[in-house]
Amino acid sequence: MTTQITSLEEYHKEYAKSIENPSAFWKKEAETFHWFKPFNEVLKWNFEEPNVKWFLNGKTNITYNALDRHIRDRGDKTAILWEPNHPEEKVVKLSYKELLTEVCKCANAFKNLGIKKGDRVVLYMPMVPELAIGVLACARIGAVHSVVFAGFSARALSDRVNDAQAKLIICSDFNQRGTKKIPVKKVVDDALELGCDSIENVLVLKNTGDSVSWNSSKNKWWHEEVDKQMPYCHAEEMDSEDLLFILYTSGSTGKPKGVVHTIGGYMVYTSYSFRNVFQYQEDDVYWCTADIGWITGHSYIIYGPLLSGATTIMFEGIPTHPTPSRFWQICEKHKVNQFYTAPTAIRALMACGHDLPNKSDLSSIRVLGTVGEPINEEAWHWYDKHIGRGKAPIVDTWWQTETGGILISPLPGITDNKPTYASYPLPGIQAVLVDPDGNELTENNVEGLLCIKHPWPSMIRTTYGDHERCKTVYFSTFKGMYFTGDGARKDDEGRIRVIGRVDDVINVSGHRMGTAEVENAINEHPNVIESAIVGYPHDIKGQGIYAFVITQGAAKDNTTRKEILEVVTREIAPIAKPDKIQFVDGLPKTRSGKIMRRILRKVASNEAHSLGDISTLLNPECVQEIIEGAF
Ligand code: PRX
Repeated sequence: MTTQITSLEEYHKEYAKSIENPSAFWKKEAETFHWFKPFNEVLKWNFEEPNVKWFLNGKTNITYNALDRHIRDRGDKTAILWEPNHPEEKVVKLSYKELLTEVCKCANAFKNLGIKKGDRVVLYMPMVPELAIGVLACARIGAVHSVVFAGFSARALSDRVNDAQAKLIICSDFNQRGTKKIPVKKVVDDALELGCDSIENVLVLKNTGDSVSWNSSKNKWWHEEVDKQMPYCHAEEMDSEDLLFILYTSGSTGKPKGVVHTIGGYMVYTSYSFRNVFQYQEDDVYWCTADIGWITGHSYIIYGPLLSGATTIMFEGIPTHPTPSRFWQICEKHKVNQFYTAPTAIRALMACGHDLPNKSDLSSIRVLGTVGEPINEEAWHWYDKHIGRGKAPIVDTWWQTETGGILISPLPGITDNKPTYASYPLPGIQAVLVDPDGNELTENNVEGLLCIKHPWPSMIRTTYGDHERCKTVYFSTFKGMYFTGDGARKDDEGRIRVIGRVDDVINVSGHRMGTAEVENAINEHPNVIESAIVGYPHDIKGQGIYAFVITQGAAKDNTTRKEILEVVTREIAPIAKPDKIQFVDGLPKTRSGKIMRRILRKVASNEAHSLGDISTLLNPECVQEIIEGAF
């Protein structure tokens, strides 16, 4: 197992070691894993190309380390504890032995369907054990998994399938979320209709048992393909730098990008950060409420916990079904020790009153975590008081899809716990703030742009099929540094508080939305001429989406608004739907024709009184109309 820091003194010592000699530091951690062939060089890097390689020439398999390695000491320990959508349904507990067997059977089924090392497999699934099994089965045989959040539309799914040139899609018949059944297989059928030529097969899990349409040449049932397989499958020998997965995320430009993570570094860092940030102990039950469709689910439901031999809960449902007490009831039912969720969920449940958590016995909780967006003071204190009962430190973990694992976070009970601060970087992470010219702000009590100066093992390697984009977005803004896209402040003792995105990305309920992506979708409406979206403060979601839309030949009324929402749902997903749509006659533009989002942000945030100088605009006259029509 990787190192577990247990005191402040040790944290300072480990941090210092990791900065003085990063290679020696990570070599020691990497050597706690099983390598079929040891690596002969720890790190090779330059941020110009960029080209980053960790644990060079080492051969391993992440599932060997997440499963086989634990069989001797904890084979009968629960690896995955699955809590169903409806509380009255049966909980499933898969021991490490059972999970290995299931993964092997699934891996054999994949081979049988012609999936080979390097092939891409898309998973579009509910939060059921088979999703984790499918992900691990890909890794077992060296296939590259790409999980697509099952709320995305057929269009978004087909875009991702085509970008990855995937050969196989795995889905269920229907997903269950609260009282709703979602026709997932139908969405996959629609995606294939839009054109997904690389897909050879669709493997369908019978989840609800409701009937689905069937294409007998391409569609295969999970139970018919997987259940008959042998329970052992050799773990493919993979190079440390072979691809483990692609995960699509939004950026400033229209098209989502496929963030690529490779095996060795991701393995070492997710396990190391999991053990330290959550201070996991052998008999603990750990629960992260994220969906595996996002990076949090990859790193801290599946890989980090399993690599560390933990018991990890997977929850199929939603926080409010059948009542808003569900999270707290699950914590009591399974005696959860570490609970990790998003500020948006905390705010939503906070609005339901504190008598709800007070009804559950939450005394097992030792560590509380948050992720995905800045947490406001009020939510932080509520979480501390009503869930942690003042006794469980809160780890406000800052990281990104691109970072693979948590980079900045308190260590519970070790470093101090200042509300709303992600605090200090983990060992190995050289986080700095810079000014817009890239000068490092070394003093405390400053605000700047958050960058990382030195590679860490689980960092992004490329954007799939477009290395140039990776270079431009992350490594070209400031020379020799990885640029996060976030603004942050340091307090007088150097603790970091991440304030939010400084690029054209909106963080809605902890999910990233590219402004251009949503605008492109809105512009698909036949009567929309132009649109601009910006984020604005939203009580529950953190940020809401505010759309300014110019139309022609359409009534500027709720019917058109409804149609626009339908277009966005069709093109992206319901989570990308604007909260407010304001019809306007013009959008404020610079003389070069660029939309001045700064002005729109002020209007959307109800701060139109401080617009500043607008005389340099091409069309200043439109601003008054926009202010008057604002919600
Ligand atoms: O703006 C930061 C915000 O979420 C972004 C990353 O989003 P994504 O790649 O979807 O990953 C989310 C889960 C890791 C960041 O650029 N963010 C994430 N965690 C925090 C945060 N903002 C403030 N505080 C955090 N703890």
